[in-house]
Amino acid sequence: MIVVVVGGGGREHAIVKKLKESASADKIYALPGNGGIAADAECVDIKATDIEGITAFAKEKKADFVVVAPDDPLAMGAVDRLHAEGIKCFGPVKAAAEIESSKAFAKALMKKYGIPTAAYEVFTDAGAAEKYIDTLPLPIVVKADGLALGKGVVIAPTREEAKKAVREMMGGRFGESGKKVVIEEFLTGPEVSVLAFTDGRTVVPMVSSMDHKRIGDNDTGLNTGGMGAVAPNPYFTPELVKEAERTIFLPTVKAMAAEGRAFRGCLYFGLMITPDGVKVIEYNSRFGDPETQAVLPLLKSDLMEIMLAVEEERLSPDMVRFSDECSCAVVLASKGYPEKYETGYEIRNSCKDAEVYYAGAKLENGVLKTAGGRVLAVSVTAPTLKEAVEKAYGAAEEISFENKYMRSDIGARAMAAK
Ligand code: AMP
Ligand code: GLY
Repeated sequence: MIVVVVGGGGREHAIVKKLKESASADKIYALPGNGGIAADAECVDIKATDIEGITAFAKEKKADFVVVAPDDPLAMGAVDRLHAEGIKCFGPVKAAAEIESSKAFAKALMKKYGIPTAAYEVFTDAGAAEKYIDTLPLPIVVKADGLALGKGVVIAPTREEAKKAVREMMGGRFGESGKKVVIEEFLTGPEVSVLAFTDGRTVVPMVSSMDHKRIGDNDTGLNTGGMGAVAPNPYFTPELVKEAERTIFLPTVKAMAAEGRAFRGCLYFGLMITPDGVKVIEYNSRFGDPETQAVLPLLKSDLMEIMLAVEEERLSPDMVRFSDECSCAVVLASKGYPEKYETGYEIRNSCKDAEVYYAGAKLENGVLKTAGGRVLAVSVTAPTLKEAVEKAYGAAEEISFENKYMRSDIGARAMAAK
């Protein structure tokens, strides 16, 4: 099969590498991919949001299958467009991708179908939002309705800051994404990410994982796209998995189908284990980054076959097998990220015993150089989490570039759970 993977980050590199293991994926293109992905797929400089460009490319190459990995093209209807040309895809249609692209939609879905989540209200009027804020306990969670590059969530310690966040969002800080604002109850407890394959009827959760969103050790500093991940997440015990399957995973998939928005693809459940049970913090309509770089290395089954079964609505749990090992993915970033940072430095990689998934990397005259905030993730699997963490950090030492920065505590919180 000729396969096109849309996207150009570490997540897409992990998907490409897994697809390469499949007997049926003969040729893999990445649009646009990056300088590191170029070692594993043919990268073509078409933007992930250039839906017409992607469609024309897929037709020209007679692609059998397109994997749409990032949120933007999914929200823009890339899968609908490709389907219209008779091209099979992995990823939800636009109406289903709304579970991520509109938080107001996701919250209303959960309310209607009794799926546990934080109590909330939606506002389009700043005055009404401010009145509601005056009635709430602190801290207060304020979220822009639409996609905001992971920056649309404010946990306000005071009412004044909550009101300021509302005014900024409604004032156009995130464009249309912030015209509608969700204000919700603050929940506490360990967070768990669960990626799940679903064909709209059957849902098969992958091994759970834990993201590390803040830039600094001990979860301090600014939010980032994710500085590392471990899998499985030890807080998510088998009992909690069962609870979530019953109260969240299957109800969500059924709810989407009942709404005429059957979700086919990878549905990401951002969960919190609260004192009142497992609740949904957010849904994403795609594989998470960097969770994918920790989860996919543990997948033993053929990813291409799973993706085909999802698209053809014949997914069954026995198609998805995971190793019972653990994994750790540590992100190496450019110092200064997520704010200002420099790029263009040569990346030297002498590590042999780890997977390296490139994100902000470009090839210049055959030399791989840094080209972004998050440069790459180094990912290792091992029989225990402790070993995986140690080996991942060992491997990270064998990769060098100017201004390299990483957190030193990926996996520490997970290991503390035991
Ligand atoms: P999101 O972009 O929705 O994933 O939110 C980013 C982060 O904000 C989450 O990973 C949580 O750590 C935090 N967060 C979001 N909503 C809540 C909430 N209702 N209570 C506590 N923390 C939250
Ligand atoms: N790791 C969280 C996300 O992909 O949005």
